[in-house]
Amino acid sequence: MAKSSYFTTTTTTTIVTLLVILLPKSYCSVPKEDIDLLEFPLNLEYLEAEFFLYGSLGVGLDIVAPNLTKGGPTPIGGQLAILDSVTRDVILQFALQEVGHLRAIQSVVEGFPRPLLNLSAATFAQVIDSAVGKKLNPPFDPYASGLHFLIASYLVPYVGLTGYVGANAKLQGPDSRRLVAGLLGVESGQDAVIRALLYERALEVVHPYGITVAEFTNRISILRNKLGGEGVKDEGLLVPPADGAEGRISGNVLAGDPNSVAYARTPEEILRIVYGSGSEKIPGGIYPKGGSGNIAKSYLPK
Ligand SMILES: *[C@@H]1O[C@H](CO)[C@@H](O)[C@H](O)[C@H]1NC(C)=O
Ligand SMILES: *[C@@H]1O[C@H](CO)[C@@H](O)[C@H](O)[C@H]1NC(C)=O
Repeated sequence: MAKSSYFTTTTTTTIVTLLVILLPKSYCSVPKEDIDLLEFPLNLEYLEAEFFLYGSLGVGLDIVAPNLTKGGPTPIGGQLAILDSVTRDVILQFALQEVGHLRAIQSVVEGFPRPLLNLSAATFAQVIDSAVGKKLNPPFDPYASGLHFLIASYLVPYVGLTGYVGANAKLQGPDSRRLVAGLLGVESGQDAVIRALLYERALEVVHPYGITVAEFTNRISILRNKLGGEGVKDEGLLVPPADGAEGRISGNVLAGDPNSVAYARTPEEILRIVYGSGSEKIPGGIYPKGGSGNIAKSYLPK
């Protein structure tokens, strides 16, 4: 009897030890309910990492951090942008920050392979055309200059930021909330830098379109509000004073609600925006096959 209980204890110990070795320890600190919400932002982090890496270096994660792609397909159409030295420096910093974000999320949840991303100039041109309500000629090219790239970048971290604000309220575990708060901090910082650089040039007319920088941001924000379908959660760089901080200023270097608190968006709103379709069920734009992870996939045809 003594022998058999010794055997049982040893077996149990062995199984437990094996489980501890097999399950990456850090996964255990995240409650099950949080996993999908923590994985969802990988969709945006992959986009940001790739767009910023290609723009500043001309190569993407396949070269810089292949393991973090988990074998997902190489993005379509990313290219080195013609950037002035300050913009290139800043965008390269953002790119490397996004590599860190991918690693941070993937060290807490398993995540999923990089979804297919279409980063071709034509994809951005389509978004800008629908924002300004006409076909620009020549088509808007995000890779054409530092200013073009910053206007295109205006599209990116802000959506992630509102998603993190939205996700935080739904997370159960302290480690999950700590991670999301940390990601939110840096995404907001990126958005603020992009906005500040554009704000300095708010009244500059973007050649050859006869549209000012501020007008581009206003139109993009209006488009995102329309696609998101949940009211005003997005504001350009120059607004009617009633929409500025404390309802009394038209400069709007940072976006926020009437109390200047950041807006929150749900994953569904984010998908409607980044697909450019206004529907979480109709992929397109930058995500020709849709996002990945349980939340995005739950809306796609099986
Ligand atoms: C990347 O993956 C390869 C193959 O699985 C592995 O040998 C390598 O150690 C990994 N590198 C990093 C930095 O994790
Ligand atoms: C990428 O997007 C552009 C613009 O929508 C489209 O013309 C092009 O066919 C897409 N490329 C691929 C390979 O899907």
